[in-house]
This record gives sequence, structure tokens and C-alpha cells, in this order.
Amino acid sequence: MSIAEPSSIALTRASQLLTLAGSPLPRSGKASRELGILEHASLVIADDHIAWVGPHSEFVALHERGELPEVGRAQTIHDCAGKVVMPAFVDPHTHLVWGGDRLDELEQRLAGADYEHIFAAGGGILSSVRQTRGASEQELFEQSLRRIQRMQACGTTSFEIKSGYGLELETELRQLRVARRLRDEAGVRIKATCMVAHALPAEARGSDEARARCLDSIVDTILPAVAAEGLADYADVFCERGAFTKAESARVLGKAAALGLGLRIHAHEFDHSGGVELAAELRAKSADHLLVLDERERGLLRDAGVVAVLLPGTSLVLGKPYADGRALIDAGVAVAIATDCNPGSCALENLAMVLGLACYGCKLSVAEAIVAATHNAAASLDLADQVGRLEPGMSADLLVLATSDHRDLVYHAGSPLIREVYSRGRRLH
Ligand code: NIG
Ligand code: FE
Repeated sequence: MSIAEPSSIALTRASQLLTLAGSPLPRSGKASRELGILEHASLVIADDHIAWVGPHSEFVALHERGELPEVGRAQTIHDCAGKVVMPAFVDPHTHLVWGGDRLDELEQRLAGADYEHIFAAGGGILSSVRQTRGASEQELFEQSLRRIQRMQACGTTSFEIKSGYGLELETELRQLRVARRLRDEAGVRIKATCMVAHALPAEARGSDEARARCLDSIVDTILPAVAAEGLADYADVFCERGAFTKAESARVLGKAAALGLGLRIHAHEFDHSGGVELAAELRAKSADHLLVLDERERGLLRDAGVVAVLLPGTSLVLGKPYADGRALIDAGVAVAIATDCNPGSCALENLAMVLGLACYGCKLSVAEAIVAATHNAAASLDLADQVGRLEPGMSADLLVLATSDHRDLVYHAGSPLIREVYSRGRRLH
């Protein structure tokens, strides 16, 4: 997408303007379905941020008197009658920097092969590790930017990006440097996560000693190097059978916390791995996947204020059950949703479609899914002071939908309803 010049612009007469006005904290319970809808409303963008939001009649009065905050008379008036204006999506869980592809594995899985078996046999994640180790920084940057541009066209303007296809120092740093370049050179709002504990690399699979040496190198060398270069905001671990045990995950995340990184965790995708207990003990920002979860574990997440990040695209692609989002929300847990965009278990890029899956599969209401894909996702990434709500002072990251009712996003999930995408006040084309 090319980027147009910034200017002050008024989006006027929207049929529904979803403000999500309210607390910057992750939302649970009743607040997790409050969209703060204004009808027949207008919004003014000044440069990169929102200057004013309110009823259209007030806009008209202020505009005539030249009294709109910061802009006086808005330069451009863009009539949004019959349309919905809402916050742009925030994707809080992606692995979108990877080399090559796994199209052959897609065909194997469609013919019946099992994801965990492919992984255990040295394919799956390890296949992407081989391809990513063989890719230059520039190749990774160009591939990843193309993915981001497609995701932006689907309405996402903020991204979390994990490393974890290097599993050794050089390639992990290269992936994270690509994430930094996407932020600094391409101007994309990005939070980076070091996920060197994504899988045990092939060279560490021979013996218990090799496994122990690998863990030592993660904790003593790789995480400190990542932190020293300031390349990551968070660390994440695949705490799952076939990957890392609860004790190993505790060691990795404990070290990451000591280095000042925030914590996230892949947990309970296949099993009661203990990852949820760990997330609660360590006050992780998020626990992600959560297909296998009981009432006690939901209580742990709620009491510790951990955001549950649901990835229903992965359930669809792998033919797994959907996480019980309804039970999580009813238990008072704050829920976010994400694509999990990665080369294997789910390469879906369209968070609007995943929002539909969160309703049909995880049993969220439309309003809960919208909060989950905007404000709660932002809060899980410590971005709630910038994006996820349409209030004065927030970054102008927003969408214009070609419909007058936001529920069409789920009713017609996957249809091209997202007509305009603004990132930091600039319309993306
Ligand atoms: O979240 N589970 C681990 N990581 C990814 C899958 C990565 C891959 O298959 O390459 C996930 O599903
Ligand atoms: Fe993932």
C-alpha cells in the first residue's frame, strides 16, 4: 500500500461510529461487549491522531464557527453516510517473519497427515527453521512487508511479531531486526517478541545433554543478546508436549522477566501443559491458544489479569476444536483474538475473517469479537494508549466499512466490507 499525504480530514455522518470509549485496561465481563456506538456521528483527524469525535450536529456547529479543536475548519470533509467507522484491528499474535513456505506440508495435511506428527518427524516448524536460516535479511524483509501489506488491506494496522524460526543466535537476531526495520523503515506499528523457545532445534534433539545445552544457550546467550540490542518487547515460549516443559518454560520466561521483557506464552493447545499456571504465576501479558482449559485454569487467568488470546484460524486450519471463548468471557477473563499468521498451522492473514471464526467457533458475540480484535488486543500489547479506541488524542488508526451495521462484519465474514484503512491518520491504498 502506498501512503497518502497526512492532512486534517473529517469523516462525517457515519451511521455507526464505534468509539469503544472507556478504560485503557483489558476489558472483561460487561465491558467486553460495550462498543460505545454513536449514531449519525463525525470524527476529525488532525495529522496522525484523532482531534474530535461526537454527534454530527455538534460537528456542524463547531465547523461553521471554525472552532473544531486543533484544526478550526477541517480541510477535507469525507461523507461517511451509510457507513460504519471503527478502530482498525490490532493483531496480537503473529509469526509473520519467515523464509520460504510450507505449501507441500499443506497438501500432506489436507491428505490426512497430522500436524504434531509432521513436527515430531523433523518437518513443520523445523522446515521453516531451515528455510529461514537460509534467507537473507533483505529477503525476509521483502516477504514480510508483502504479508503486512495484505494484512493492512484487511484492516489490521498494529502487529505483534514473534521470532522463533532461527532457534540459534544469528537467525533469531535477523528475524527481530527485520521486525525492527518493518517498524522504522515501513512505519508499521509493531511490537516484537523473542520466541527462541519455539521448538528444540534439530541439533539439540540427540540427547538430554544436547537439550540442556540448548536451554543454557537460550538463557545465557540468546535472550541477553536480544535484550542488549533492544530488539524485543516480549518473550514467548511454546509450553506444550513435543516442545518445552513447564519447568523449562519457567526458566526461559524467568530469565526474560529479569532482563526486563514482558511475557507471553503458547499454552494448552494440545494439553494441560501447565502453561496457564505459569502465565498466572509470572503475571504474563497473555496466554495464547487455550483449546484445552478447565474452570480452575480460567480462574487463574482472570485473577492474574492475563489476557486470553484466541486463535480460531489455527483451529480451522488444523481441524482442532475451537477454544471456548464463551466460557472464558463468562468466567471474567479478558479475551483478545489474533491470526497466529505463521507458515504452518495457520497462514491466514485476514483478521476480519478470524473475527467471524471467533463468533462461529469460539462463541463470542459480535461486540465481544470486535473488542477482542481491537481494544483488548491493544491492551495485551501495552498499546491501549495509542490504538483500539476512537477518542481524542488516540492515533487515527481506523476503518470505514461499506455497510451501515457493524454486525455485517460477522454476518458476511470475509466479504470485502473494509473500504478504507487509516493508519496514523494516513489513508492506505
Ligand atoms: O502458534 N505452535 C507454535 N507456533 C505456531 C505454529 C508455527 C508453525 O507451525 O510454524 C502456532 O501455531
Ligand atoms: Fe503462535
